[in-house]
Amino acid sequence: MMWSVMILSGAGLSAESGLKTFRDSDGLWEEYDVMEVCSVEGFAKDPKKVGDFYDARRAQLERVEPNFAHKKIAELKEKYPREISVVTQNVDDLLERAGCKEVIHLHGTLTDLRCEVCGNIWKVGYESQEGKSCQKCGSKKIRHNVVMFGEPAPMYGYLDDVFSSIELFIVIGSSGNVLPLKSMAKYKEKSVLNNLHPEPDLDRSFQTVIHKKASEGILEIEKMVKDFLCE
Ligand code: APR
Ligand code: ZN
Repeated sequence: MMWSVMILSGAGLSAESGLKTFRDSDGLWEEYDVMEVCSVEGFAKDPKKVGDFYDARRAQLERVEPNFAHKKIAELKEKYPREISVVTQNVDDLLERAGCKEVIHLHGTLTDLRCEVCGNIWKVGYESQEGKSCQKCGSKKIRHNVVMFGEPAPMYGYLDDVFSSIELFIVIGSSGNVLPLKSMAKYKEKSVLNNLHPEPDLDRSFQTVIHKKASEGILEIEKMVKDFLCE
């Protein structure tokens, strides 16, 4: 499979659906201590607090809807299924609910649980994980299927493979605080960043920068992708 376009998204893609980003003002990291609820150490110290954190995010996810940007990405993926790789740092299911196929989640998925004994992963949807047990081995040692700081992100290998073959690199709604977006953009002649807030140090690495909400920026991105693929 030779991909030619990657659309990589972060929390900013889901902001207009009502899900908080992490590092914007009023973001999740202003409400929670990230190391308490999203790190291996925090999980070991207080698994119940971490479980409650993900339960709350799952319950909120059920109440929100995909936005226009999710829908346009799904349309582009449907029109160019072999050319466009859709990769996200987001753990929400809004791209899938917008109809997008083959979404690669680099940091896991909020709507799944994982067994710490046998590794089984299964769909929990928007329910609490309280009292649940593994559907395969029956173990009660289950956890959220979201990658925490301090543990490996299994899909990063896939990201590297796809990234090496693409020519057009598009980022929507990410500050680049976790993935090395600056250096990734420098490897590609054609790179587009669509963030709401200017971040000069990140912006200057990209060939094209769109400082708009994702639901507006996606129209410019759609035109760039179609022009590039129809060249
Ligand atoms: N439209 C487009 N971009 C937006 C919007 C919007 N409506 N609202 C905010 N943004 C942009 C901000 O400008 C910022 O650059 O989204 C970005 C959000 O950055 P972060 O909150 O850092 O989110 P993200 O980059 O996805 O974080 C990466 O960090 O905490 C970990 O695992 C977590 O996957 C997450 C990773
Ligand atoms: Zn199990």
